[in-house]
Amino acid sequence: MTDQKRIVVTGGAGFIGSAVVRHLLSQPGIEVLNLDKLTYAANLESLRDVSDKAGYRFVEADIVDSSRIGQVFTDFRPHAVMHLAAESHVDRSIDGPEAFIQSNVVGTYRLVMEALRYWQRLPEAEAKAFRFHHISTDEVFGELGASGSFTEDSPYQPNSPYAATKAAADHIVRAWGRTYGLPVVLSNCSNNYGPYHFPEKLIPLVILKCLAGESVPVYGQGQQIRDWLFVADHARALHLIVERGEVGESYNVGGGSERTNLQVVQGICDLLDRLRPRQDGSHRDLIAFVPDRPGHDFRYAIDYSHLERSLGWRPLESFESGLEKTVRWYLENDWWWRPIVERQYAGQRLGLSKSEARAQS
Ligand code: NAD
Ligand code: TYD
Repeated sequence: MTDQKRIVVTGGAGFIGSAVVRHLLSQPGIEVLNLDKLTYAANLESLRDVSDKAGYRFVEADIVDSSRIGQVFTDFRPHAVMHLAAESHVDRSIDGPEAFIQSNVVGTYRLVMEALRYWQRLPEAEAKAFRFHHISTDEVFGELGASGSFTEDSPYQPNSPYAATKAAADHIVRAWGRTYGLPVVLSNCSNNYGPYHFPEKLIPLVILKCLAGESVPVYGQGQQIRDWLFVADHARALHLIVERGEVGESYNVGGGSERTNLQVVQGICDLLDRLRPRQDGSHRDLIAFVPDRPGHDFRYAIDYSHLERSLGWRPLESFESGLEKTVRWYLENDWWWRPIVERQYAGQRLGLSKSEARAQS
């Protein structure tokens, strides 16, 4: 391996992908090629602090486009591919699953196939050091009851169209490792949060609804539980896994921060009451319980002890410190989110399936 390491990051204009690109470029000796289709969820502004760096380049491409991907691999000669490109929002997968099948299933198949073709042409030492890292979700394991947590051995039981497509992608990547010998590694993480998060997801949505003085939608009674992982902690874990993860292994990454949705929403309201008080009462007054998401998973929780034992990773951010950093970031960076809210997505409800929507009209 040369001193300089070249890494393709797919989906590098998205929320986690951009955190990974920023993290990699903060390390010595790494060149990054960000390959992204620029869907609605992408934002190159998330990379404005690093896009001038000599080690960064961007290619606008769809992972479904085999010949384009093959050309990128031939030209850039990556030592590793970190595959994050995906349709990522559960509610949108309920309304329109086709894009999820295309990008997450067909796209992952085409990408891993091009990676295999490229890898088979590498000299032996480079081929041995090559890694294809698929970044996935804990949602492939389905839902938990009140106790226990997902381990790497938990059975796959995806419940949403999104989770089903990520499970399919996991299986494809694993099978390409086992059958063709491609050096693959996988990771499954819990809900990420932090700066540059597209405001369709719970935490940024709630922050921006509060700032607009609009009602804050909590699905059902807000008793579902998620295990929140600060995105910078995740980026650090992914770098470790692609560098030092064992071929064929899977690693769970979690924040050790289980909270009910209502606790998360109330936490944001309380932070905003302190940092940006309303004239007429608490932000908690804006909370509105709305019809639940169809097929809503009750609880996710991650056991990350395998990653901790084998590679020495643990989350550094507590949920309280991470949430405050996140809220402060949105308060200070309306240049980033205001164009999204004005031109792309203004916070309307997503993910009520047609039958559900009919039942409610
Ligand atoms: P995101 O929606 O913010 O970004 C996805 C990026 O992928 C976008 O920039 C988009 O343009 C790009 N993309 C989508 N389809 C593409 C295609 N066909 N070709 C090329 N680029 C394409 O997603 P995110 O939250 O950053 O998630 C990144 C990855 O991590 C995804 O694979 C997701 O499944 C996984 N993940 C996310 C979370 C989370 O909490 N956000 C949790 C677990 C796993
Ligand atoms: P989300 O951020 O969409 O992530 P995921 O579905 O991948 O877990 O949602 C997090 C939780 O918050 C989930 O249980 C659904 C809930 N939720 C609401 O209660 N209100 C909302 O407006 C949104 C977007 C989500």
